Amino acid sequence: MDLQGKHVVVIGGSSGMGLATAAGAAAAGAKVTIASSDQSRLDAALATLPSGCDGVVVDARREESFAEALAQIGELDHLVYSAGDGVSPRPLVETAPDEARGLFDVRFWGAVAAIRHAAPRIKAGGSIGLTSGTIVVRPPAGAALAAGAAAAIEGLTRGLAVELAPVRVNAVRPGAIHTPMWDALPEARRSAVLGALAERTITKKVGQPDEIAAAHLFLMDNRFVTGTVLTVDGGAILI
Ligand SMILES: NC(=O)c1ccc[n+]([C@@H]2O[C@H](COP(=O)([O-])OP(=O)(O)OC[C@H]3O[C@@H](n4cnc5c(N)ncnc54)[C@H](OP(=O)(O)O)[C@@H]3O)[C@@H](O)[C@H]2O)c1
Repeated sequence: MDLQGKHVVVIGGSSGMGLATAAGAAAAGAKVTIASSDQSRLDAALATLPSGCDGVVVDARREESFAEALAQIGELDHLVYSAGDGVSPRPLVETAPDEARGLFDVRFWGAVAAIRHAAPRIKAGGSIGLTSGTIVVRPPAGAALAAGAAAAIEGLTRGLAVELAPVRVNAVRPGAIHTPMWDALPEARRSAVLGALAERTITKKVGQPDEIAAAHLFLMDNRFVTGTVLTVDGGAILI
C-alpha cells in the first residue's frame, strides 16, 4: 500500500489499535498525526513511531477540543477514530442515568464531534474509519450499554457514508484484541479472560492490534468500499 503524500489522523492514536494503525500508515509513507487526551502518553507513542509523525492533545469528551485540534491539524486525507475509555460491565438497571449517558461520551459522541470538525477538511479521495465491536452482535451480560454505543457507531457509519459522500465512511468491528485496554485487569485475571476469549474464536486466538490496523489501511485504500462494517474477530460471531 502506498500512502505517500497522504495525511492520516488517528484519534486514540496513543495506544492499542489506534497506535498500530498510526504505525501502519506511517510505514506506508503517510504523514501521521495522532491525538489523545494525554500529552505524556502521546509523547511515549510518538517515540515508537517514525520521525515526522506528530501529536495533538484532544479530549474526546469536549466538542471544542476537536474544533481546536482540527484547526491546528488542517487538511487531511484519512481520519481514523479509535478512542475509547475502559468501562466495567454492569447491568443496566444498576447504572445511574448520567453514568449510562457518559458511556457514549468518548466512543460515540467523540466520534461525532471528530467528524463534525474533520469532514470539511478531508481532501478528495479521503475516508473516515470508525470503531465498533463484536459486542454489537454477541453482547455478554452487563454490556448492553456498551453494545448500544457500538451499534450506534455502525448506524452512524451507514448514515454518514450516504451523507458525506464522496468522502467514504466505514467501520472496523474488532473482536477481542490484545491491547493495553485489558491492562485494567490484574495479570492473572487478564490471562484467564483473554484465554477464554481466544477459545471462543474459530482461529483460537485473540487478535493483535496490527490485524486491526491492516483492516483500517484496507478501508483507506479501497475506493469502492463505503458504508461497510468490516468484522475482524477470528470468526467469534459464528460460534
Ligand atoms: N481491545 C479490544 O478487545 C476491543 C474490542 C472491540 C472494540 N474495542 C474498542 O476499540 C477502541 C480502541 O480500543 P483499544 O483496545 O485500542 O484501547 P486502548 O489501547 O486503551 O486505546 C484507547 C485510546 O483512546 C484514547 N482515549 C481514551 N479516552 C480519551 C479521551 N477522552 N479523549 C481522547 N482520546 C481518548 C487513549 O489515549 P489517552 O489515554 O492518551 O487519552 C488511547 O489512545 C475502544 O473504543 C474500545 O472500546 C476494543
